[in-house]
Amino acid sequence: MSPGMPSPSLTPPTPPPQQTKPPPSSAPVRTIPGGYGWPVVGPISDRLDYFWFQGPEPFFRKRMEKNKSTVFRTNVPPTFPLFSGVNPNVVAVLDCKSFSNLFDMEVVEKKNVLVGDFMPSVKFTGDLRVCAYLDTSEAQHSKVKKFSMDLLKRSSTIWVPTLTSNLDTMWDTLESNLTKSGSASYLIPIQKLIFSFFARCFVGADPSNSPDIADSGYVMVDLWLALQLLPTIKIGVLQPLEEIFIHSFAYPFALVSSGYNKIVKFIEEQGKEVVERGMTEFGLSREETVHNLIFILGFNAYGGFAIFLPTLLSKIGTDETGIQEKLREEVRAKMTGSTLSFDSVKDMELVQSFVYETLRLNPPVPLQYGRARKDFQLSSHDSVFEIKKGELLCGYQPLVMRDPKVFEDPENFVLDRFTKEKGRELLSYLYWSNGPQNGSPSESNKQCPAKDYVTITACLFVAYLFQRYDSITCNSSGSITAVVKAK
Ligand code: HEM
Repeated sequence: MSPGMPSPSLTPPTPPPQQTKPPPSSAPVRTIPGGYGWPVVGPISDRLDYFWFQGPEPFFRKRMEKNKSTVFRTNVPPTFPLFSGVNPNVVAVLDCKSFSNLFDMEVVEKKNVLVGDFMPSVKFTGDLRVCAYLDTSEAQHSKVKKFSMDLLKRSSTIWVPTLTSNLDTMWDTLESNLTKSGSASYLIPIQKLIFSFFARCFVGADPSNSPDIADSGYVMVDLWLALQLLPTIKIGVLQPLEEIFIHSFAYPFALVSSGYNKIVKFIEEQGKEVVERGMTEFGLSREETVHNLIFILGFNAYGGFAIFLPTLLSKIGTDETGIQEKLREEVRAKMTGSTLSFDSVKDMELVQSFVYETLRLNPPVPLQYGRARKDFQLSSHDSVFEIKKGELLCGYQPLVMRDPKVFEDPENFVLDRFTKEKGRELLSYLYWSNGPQNGSPSESNKQCPAKDYVTITACLFVAYLFQRYDSITCNSSGSITAVVKAK
């Protein structure tokens, strides 16, 4: 542990069994079931199922049941007509064992496969391939990954005070909206909090020094993210309009270039120190530093938390099974003093388990891809499959995280699932960060460098909430409808 790093107590000492190549299996070799269908027709039919007739989860579940296998061939979007260069053929891997091949950098390559065979134009990222699209065999990956880990380490000294001051602002705003209108939507306030928090932590910048960025920095990032990801995500717009206007072609960067260029200017002006460091200490060019920094801040950090924190808050605020009481009790019992620090949450076993269980059932990045570097044998729990060099593996985490061979009562939210020794062992199978929760992100793998920061930040979010309130109530459309302040 390096000084200033979050306490390691959230990551137990057991070596990560999934981080290394799974042991050779004695299971029978089986032909991969499923298929790609007729050219053009097969991919279109699968795309319509994925976005329209079934939706992502039933899409994978139905094919898993039909093929009686957690490993099978299928197509995933985007497809025809205007994605002609994209190959939609994948081998789906839907159990913990087969999915873990995606972490084995000896057998899979991660070049340009962040969201599948489709890659958004590099125009969105300063005409550069940023870290998340680089394979571990590329020298720049190692440099940028180290830079990202350094960003986290340096910001750890201001992480908790910056978070709590942003939480103060957010909850003050929500309370005042609640008093005025009887309910307060939390989606935008959370996005503002995350943007301002990461701008301060990573860029060393206060967005309020740049009024344009302070007012609408998060909106610029939202639009920039949306345009990159639209071809691959289901929005829920009336069909067939969604298929015609959202999933048939990629939107050009030009639509968001003015917002993106403002963020570039903001980073260059307010983040001089961090940009210099990227160049002098990590050997990156000015452009590489600036655009990777924007991607880490806007895509990785902001994008991840903008999905995760609303899910976490909604789980607390809509629960009717007594989760709030149990979490509140633990927070109040374990807090010493009123000021939050990384140490405050290290003994909150139930709060940690709550965070892990939320990530298990709602992994914020649901799909992971990897391309076979060579021919190899891929094992599921009960079979072995021959994978050919160049084939694309596609893991859909929401199903992998409900693998009944690993998780008891897999479909249900079990608050204390990750407590005690047995629970801590299960962390080897919690994969939201593209690696096991007890794995170690490094330049030689593709695991999220913020693996521990994300979970600790979520624990702090929960601890803050129950320091401030006895209870909160949310509705299912993302609003707070009542709060009872801590007595
Ligand atoms: C809830 C928040 C977050 C989630 C859910 C998340 C999730 C992930 C996932 C799934 C990946 C792997 C993607 C793939 O290759 O398939 C990843 C990679 C990455 N994440 Fe995170 N992340 C979060 C927050 C952060 C934060 C705060 C940072 C800030 C440093 C960060 C930096 C990165 C970077 C740089 C990579 C690329 C790693 C590499 O290329 O080796 N992430 N993240």
